[in-house]
Formats: sequence, structure tokens, C-alpha cells
Amino acid sequence: MNETNESSTESLENGCPEALAIEASGRFQWHWEEVNIAGKIRKLAVASDPEGMLIDACERQDAGEKGVIDPFWATTWRAASGLDRYLNHLSLENLRVLELGCGTGHAGLAAACRGAQVVLTDGVIDPLLLVKMSTWELREHCEVRQLRFGIDHIEGGGFPLILGSDITYLRILWPELDRCLREHLSDGGQVLLSDPYRIIANEFRDWIQERGWSYCEHKVDLEDDPAHPIRVMQLTA
Ligand SMILES: C[S@@+](CC[C@H](N)C(=O)[O-])C[C@H]1O[C@@H](n2cnc3c(N)ncnc32)[C@H](O)[C@@H]1O
Repeated sequence: MNETNESSTESLENGCPEALAIEASGRFQWHWEEVNIAGKIRKLAVASDPEGMLIDACERQDAGEKGVIDPFWATTWRAASGLDRYLNHLSLENLRVLELGCGTGHAGLAAACRGAQVVLTDGVIDPLLLVKMSTWELREHCEVRQLRFGIDHIEGGGFPLILGSDITYLRILWPELDRCLREHLSDGGQVLLSDPYRIIANEFRDWIQERGWSYCEHKVDLEDDPAHPIRVMQLTA
């Protein structure tokens, strides 16, 4: 997971919204979307053609190109809305929060809107350009940076809350994710991972408990499709 280029990293670290928009537009099509975040309609920068991006990645992989990453970040996942809704139960004012695999950053932004100090991370830089734009107004509350599970580490002490929306979908990611959680969770902290009751996530639920985590699960109903609720897995060390 290292498909980046220098100008993207530079824009991410130092770019104003205009520079970020230019950098993102040079890499893929995107637009502003109105999304309900933390109970209010807010603007989120999202990819305009997630399906096209996925097909393009598959074609490049089929052609033998190395290091091509599936752009799963480009889709807006309902699991993020479920996690956002669940955050209503928590008191987040000034809490240090880490979001892993943030994609377009809905869950982390939802935490920041509720007063948390959030570090929003993903393994790839592309979505982070959008996240940096989406969090610009709340930039005093949001840091945006690359974090690849099991590879990168954020210094400065553990986080009492770690969020991840739809990041348990691939078995090969689990050992690195487990390591990343252990490295970044503070004593007594909790991890919240959401998913739309995927079968693979049922397997993750059993696997992660075998690794010594305490597990508890919550069901979140969403009005857009009440027949398909979102699960929030709560892990404590
Ligand atoms: C299904 S998407 C979910 C995105 C976002 N959390 C949401 O719910 O909309 C999975 C995310 O995990 C990220 N990801 C996958 N493998 C990763 C890794 N090894 N390290 C960090 N992030 C990773 C992807 O780039 C992608 O943004």
C-alpha cells in the first residue's frame, strides 16, 4: 500500500483548499456532496466515479501493473453513517480520537463535529486530499495523515478512542489491523468498528476475540434502509 506521489504528499501537508482541489482533480474526478454528518447536513468531498475507478484499477492489475490499490475508499459506505449515529452515545468533547481507513472521512469528521480532536488516516493518499478539504473548517480539531496498518505509527501517546468504518472486509488485513490497534490504543480505551453485518466480518468477530480482545456489539438502524442495519463492534483490550 504505497501508491503515492510527492506532490500529493506535499499538498496534504501544506496545501490550502484551492491547492488540494487542483491536486485531487489531477488524479480523479470528485465533487462536493451534502451528507448528514453528526445530525446536520454538511459538505463532504467525494469521488465522482467510484465504479469507474475500481474498473480501471482491476484492468491495470490484470495488465500486470504492480502496486495498484483497489480504490475502495472512493465509495460512500453506509457503515460510516451507522458509526456516526452510534457516536451520539459518547461524550467526545476534547477526546483524542484516531480514525483508521477513513476513506472520505465521514466517521472522523462526525467525531470532530462533536468536539473531539481527531487524527483521520488512510493507507492511501488520494482520499486524504478530499478529507483535508472536508475538514478544513474544523482544522483546529482535525489532523489528516497517512497511516498503513502495521507499518506506520503515530507518536505522542495512545488514543482513548479508535474508529474504523468498514475496514474488516479483507482477511489479510486483520493481523496488521490488530497490531495497529494495540500500538495506538491507550490503557482503558475502546475501539469501535462498524460494518453492514458482512459475513466476513462475522469471521473477524470470532478471530479478534481469539486474539484476546473483549467484544460487545451494537445494532444501529438507519432510516434510508431499515432492513439493513449497521453493526458496531466495540473492542476493549
Ligand atoms: C471499504 S473502505 C471504507 C472507507 C471509509 N472508512 C468508509 O466507511 O467510507 C476501506 C478503507 O480502508 C483503507 N485501507 C485498506 N487497507 C488499508 C491498510 N492496510 N492500511 C490503512 N488503510 C487501509 C482503504 O484505503 C479504504 O479507505
